[in-house]
Amino acid sequence: MKGLILAGGAGTRLRPITHTSAKQLVPVANKPILFYGLEAMVHAGIVEIGVIVGDTRAEVMAALGDGSTWGAKITFIPQDAPLGLAHCVLIAEEFLGGDDFVMYLGDNLLEQDLGAFVRSFETARHEFNPPMAQILLKKVPDPHRFGIAELDADGNVVNLVEKPENPPSDLALVGVYLFDPMIITAVKSIQPSPRGELEITDAIQWLVDQGMRVSQEELSGWWIDTGKLTPLLEANRLLLEKIETRLDGVIDEFSTIDGRVIVEAGATVVRSTIRGPVAIGAGAIIVDSFIGPFSAIGALCEVRNSEVEHSVIMEASKIIEIARLEDSLIGKDVVVNRTQAKPRALRLMVGDHCQIDVE
Ligand code: G1P
Repeated sequence: MKGLILAGGAGTRLRPITHTSAKQLVPVANKPILFYGLEAMVHAGIVEIGVIVGDTRAEVMAALGDGSTWGAKITFIPQDAPLGLAHCVLIAEEFLGGDDFVMYLGDNLLEQDLGAFVRSFETARHEFNPPMAQILLKKVPDPHRFGIAELDADGNVVNLVEKPENPPSDLALVGVYLFDPMIITAVKSIQPSPRGELEITDAIQWLVDQGMRVSQEELSGWWIDTGKLTPLLEANRLLLEKIETRLDGVIDEFSTIDGRVIVEAGATVVRSTIRGPVAIGAGAIIVDSFIGPFSAIGALCEVRNSEVEHSVIMEASKIIEIARLEDSLIGKDVVVNRTQAKPRALRLMVGDHCQIDVE
């Protein structure tokens, strides 16, 4: 079984951050989103992994290297234009080389172990009439935003539709799929959708239309498609919820650490209160500040005389004299600085390398 991770895609819904960074490399709980998917694959025993890269390929390739850090062997597959998820399968044909594979959308995060999903597919492959694909489903409140599956009374997949106006069910297709190489025939047989993309949803529907079996499993844990600010902050919250305290940095005697907190080596906390769950990256400096629950402060950041809560602050950014920063996503190398303004709460989404002076 091989792996195919999709890390192209422009990330338009996370601008301005994605003007300069790949959406899959935005950190949650101080780790790039993409690394969670890669780690889940390796943990499931899949080490031969193809990664589809687009415009942000240089950054993604630099972050992943050859995969040896994770014990994986990565092959990068460039996609020249975002022509759809099924198009990614098409250009990966040579890499896939006729093997079964798991396809993972690089901006999706799953609580559940991928291994169990992979094993149930492998078991089903030995059954009479083996499935040509296995999909993961999750009930959602806004089905028009996703690919949606309709099941019959026996739980067989009978109909799949991409972002329907009138959803036939509330069961969304999670961005993790298991495929027999037959999917390559399917992606070659379909036409682009109204949004001009080759949809993987349509390719799976093609399998159903040919009378082939598509199995499904409903996800019990949480699942987040991190493509926008609110779900990204939610993912950060859910992942911080799972951390264990580790205080490797320097914390002075005037500081208080409450709850589960990670302070990485080389980080310094001075006259501050850190109320977990919070992660503070290597080399960060926190002085005379309050860092509240569900905050991830990136490596080499500086927070002075400020209050931060429920926010992601990417590496090397500075938050200076800000009375309260909440529900925010701050890019890399940003300065948010209060000059003469009265203290007030800020909710910001700021791209990389910006300077914001609150006057
Ligand atoms: C894609 C798929 C959709 C699926 C979703 C999961 O949507 O087309 O079927 O439900 O990922 O994240 P997109 O992110 O391209 O809008």
